[in-house]
Amino acid sequence: MLSTPILLDYQSSTPCSKDVVDSMQPFWSEIFSNPASKSNLAGINASAILEVSREKIEQNLFLKNKKVIFTSGATESNNLALLGFARNYYKKTGNYGHIITLKTEHKAVLEPLNQLKKEGFMVTEINPENDGLISEDQFKKNIREDTFMVSIMLANNEIGVIQPIKNISKICKSRGITFHSDFAQCLGYIKLDNLLSDVNMITMSSHKIYGPKGIGLLLIDEEINLEPLIVGGGQEYGLRSGTLPLPLVVGFAKAIEIAVFNQKNNAEKLLLCRNNLLDGLLENNSGLLINGSMEKRLPHNLNLTVLDLNGAKFHKLLKSKIICSSGSACSNGEPSHVLLALGRSFKEAESSIRLSIGLSTNLKDIEQAIYILTNTIRSLR
Ligand SMILES: Cc1ncc(COP(=O)(O)O)c(C=O)c1O
Repeated sequence: MLSTPILLDYQSSTPCSKDVVDSMQPFWSEIFSNPASKSNLAGINASAILEVSREKIEQNLFLKNKKVIFTSGATESNNLALLGFARNYYKKTGNYGHIITLKTEHKAVLEPLNQLKKEGFMVTEINPENDGLISEDQFKKNIREDTFMVSIMLANNEIGVIQPIKNISKICKSRGITFHSDFAQCLGYIKLDNLLSDVNMITMSSHKIYGPKGIGLLLIDEEINLEPLIVGGGQEYGLRSGTLPLPLVVGFAKAIEIAVFNQKNNAEKLLLCRNNLLDGLLENNSGLLINGSMEKRLPHNLNLTVLDLNGAKFHKLLKSKIICSSGSACSNGEPSHVLLALGRSFKEAESSIRLSIGLSTNLKDIEQAIYILTNTIRSLR
């Protein structure tokens, strides 16, 4: 039997790639000055490296008329975009307007929106269709005279479904509504094309794309105004004060470069593994339900409900053999709000599994995962 478990949880996080680690190396103890200390040469040098990294990101993502704001990760980027934009809107207009989101968003979107509700804003959470996708008609029906902001993610972290962001952005634009989207799970896995210019505020995270943990991005249209969440020295256009971690900035810029360059090849490789995994599981097991659309889906995600067994026992037995997720890594052990929104029962949500494939996963790992999962399911039925 296997001594080390098979890792199929790469949507929770990815290891830093060697090239990324190498790129960060000089910035821990050789070039360590504060990029904001522009009164000395060492600080000026650090500041130049920071700005070169920012430009590199702009070039690799083909950004036009967008500000690149470094944050600590996607959670902070979502908070800054949603709280910052809504509070600025209230400051300008004196109105608590209306915001639209999707029930299946990450908690890093839903919780800031809950905070805004407490402050007086109105929030509509649209239920997706059974395949996890938003209905554009439903979306249009929920737009009100006072809707000023929409937040809908590009790809879901649990079920991997890819929302029709292009069309949502068109509708938002035609109504003068500012559109935010959480892209934390997308860069390097799907082609982003013009989506980066279609969306007004975009969240990204480094540790999902083989970059270091503790750094993320918020991209905003140049004319967008936000109330900062962190005030102090006025770094990052006054929107996010605090000394930036230069090694992480450099590493993130490198990770973006690699992710964009290899996107097509990586997606093909991940898709092959994911499709083999799905086919093998369906061939050997009855009573499996696929969660979310298979057509509009990230190449490295699979989410299944295993019927007719005890979910807690299933995950307990798997623990030492396969590292995977029973829902969202951030769900605190509660049944996944995403699966419940798709119409799964509590029991079904508990016996569901997210398997996410990484760049070092090979077909042998997939074969073994099919074997382990099949035996575990049989032993519990
Ligand atoms: C869609 C999505 N948004 C936000 C986050 C939070 O990201 P971070 O860990 O960078 O704060 C995650 C992480 O799981 C995610 O998948």
